[in-house]
Amino acid sequence: MIRAAEIVKTVAEVRERVARARAEERSVGFVPTMGALHEGHLSLMRQARADCRYVVISIFVNPTQFPPGEDLERYPRDLRADVRRASEAGVDLVFAPEVDEIYPPGDCTFVEVTGTLVEGMCAPHRPGHFRGVTTVCAKLFSIVAADRAYFGEKDYQQLQIIKRMVRDLRLALEIVPMPTVREPDGLAMSSRNAYLSPEERRAAGVLYRALMKAKEQFEGRERKAAALVEVVTKTVATEPLARLQYAEARDAETLAAVRLIEGPVVLAVVAFVGKTRLIDNVVLGRR
Ligand code: PAJ
Repeated sequence: MIRAAEIVKTVAEVRERVARARAEERSVGFVPTMGALHEGHLSLMRQARADCRYVVISIFVNPTQFPPGEDLERYPRDLRADVRRASEAGVDLVFAPEVDEIYPPGDCTFVEVTGTLVEGMCAPHRPGHFRGVTTVCAKLFSIVAADRAYFGEKDYQQLQIIKRMVRDLRLALEIVPMPTVREPDGLAMSSRNAYLSPEERRAAGVLYRALMKAKEQFEGRERKAAALVEVVTKTVATEPLARLQYAEARDAETLAAVRLIEGPVVLAVVAFVGKTRLIDNVVLGRR
């Protein structure tokens, strides 16, 4: 028998439910999402269920992290299907607020991480995006007051930025990184994959293939970052429906640019397939 998750829309209700769980000495796990839940999201929820005695998720398409011209309006929304999937994954509470509940009218406060973490990769291509992410996560962390929050490595730069925010703001919560869940051809699961036509869906497999080719070269002792980036670039170029936005190799923790690979490095790729922007990455030389 699956127990249906409870759905609430206000900050006050979340605080009340979490306080009640804490009074029962239950540990609290949290998975922030924008909905359109797939196996990637569900893997985070199942891990939270395994680690914690009370599991909260949020479903909130956060307007401040969509730069002008992006897909805010057409981002897929299906609360009923999401609640059913979350319930099956063992979630106790779904927080699905309206925009005003998170950004009260007149709201003018932001949280922003600076430095090497936001100098490269997606940051220059999506102005204001990470400021939107850190601001909403700081609010959600304050509302939910969890012991642990689960984030996917699929959004690798986001994960590193959130880890740094939690450390710098001295937030009392542990960030748990989770591996990328993939389709059988290697395509990283994403809510945006739903935008792809059948031909585009087939073409989208090139991102993962490109990363795997570079990984092979790394395992064959190639240590020049530029050489690995070139393998990714050339492989993506073989797919006529794909248009590369960037391929970069960066320090796996600070995301500073690297030339020679000496420690763990994230190799990240972003490409448009048709109009859909897809991202993926692989960590090389992980200890
Ligand atoms: P969203 O894209 O819905 O993703 C929610 C969480 O699921 C993120 O931590 C993301 O990395 C993880 N995730 C997505 N696809 C995954 C996959 N294939 N495998 C493993 N994990 C995956 O990321 C956001 O929402 C937002 O920026 C948010 C953090 C909720 C702030 O608005």
